[in-house]
Amino acid sequence: IRRITTNTVQEMKLNGEKISMLTAYDFSTAVILDSAGIDVILVGDSASNVMAGHETTLPITLDQMIYHASSVVRGTKRALIVVDLPFGSYQGNSKEALASAIRIMKESGAHAVKLEGGIEIKESIERIISAGIPVMGHLGLTPQSIYKFGTYTVRAKEEAEANKLLSDIQILEHAGCFGVVLEKIPAKLAKEATALVKIPTIGIGAGPEVDGQVLVVNDMLGITKGFKPRFLRQYLNLFDEIGGAVKRYIADVKSQDFPNKKEQY
Ligand code: KIV
Ligand code: NA
Repeated sequence: IRRITTNTVQEMKLNGEKISMLTAYDFSTAVILDSAGIDVILVGDSASNVMAGHETTLPITLDQMIYHASSVVRGTKRALIVVDLPFGSYQGNSKEALASAIRIMKESGAHAVKLEGGIEIKESIERIISAGIPVMGHLGLTPQSIYKFGTYTVRAKEEAEANKLLSDIQILEHAGCFGVVLEKIPAKLAKEATALVKIPTIGIGAGPEVDGQVLVVNDMLGITKGFKPRFLRQYLNLFDEIGGAVKRYIADVKSQDFPNKKEQY
């Protein structure tokens, strides 16, 4: 099996083939996504929420991201693996950003890193790319800035923020990013941003006129209870499926139906 590379996803944009991307944080899930043929796996700092139970993405550490990323890498043969640089590991200065990106590449074996922001982190992006590490950008709703935004509602509805996003995406392209995530922005703005650049855009809550889509795997599988934003298509209800299986197991243990004669030595 040939590994998807940053060049492959750029060719997919040129050929008009949409890019499929999901998050994963552990080995077993990564094996399933990779076997199913997903193009890109994002080891997102959403692990802070869905794996660790934090309210925001801010607490997760670089060491924890490396643990998740190395588990995912071991589970894959084909997908391109992109890893989020966590909050606090790159905002200080570009040297710190490069050091964090190098740790991720060296210690996890992943293929690229993702950073949130535009012009503010231009130098860091350039420095990381100069070292030979591919970078994916992330604009729109950037959850590491939640305490600046105050809410997780749709971003860039007003002209000033929309214009900044259109300027930022060109800055990211010039800096050398191989792609950009656009999170929770009006579909019309995502379409405009996508038309402005040659690099692929991957949307989450950004409408259909982008070059690919990404979802948090726990959300699309229905493992996350009670999180149903408009942009989320839920393909399974694993909360109830798994809960039902656990209830049957409990009942079987209590009734001594399990283990039966064949299930013992
Ligand atoms: O951490 C994450 O899951 C992400 C995606 C939502 C793009 O950054
Ligand atoms: Na993220």
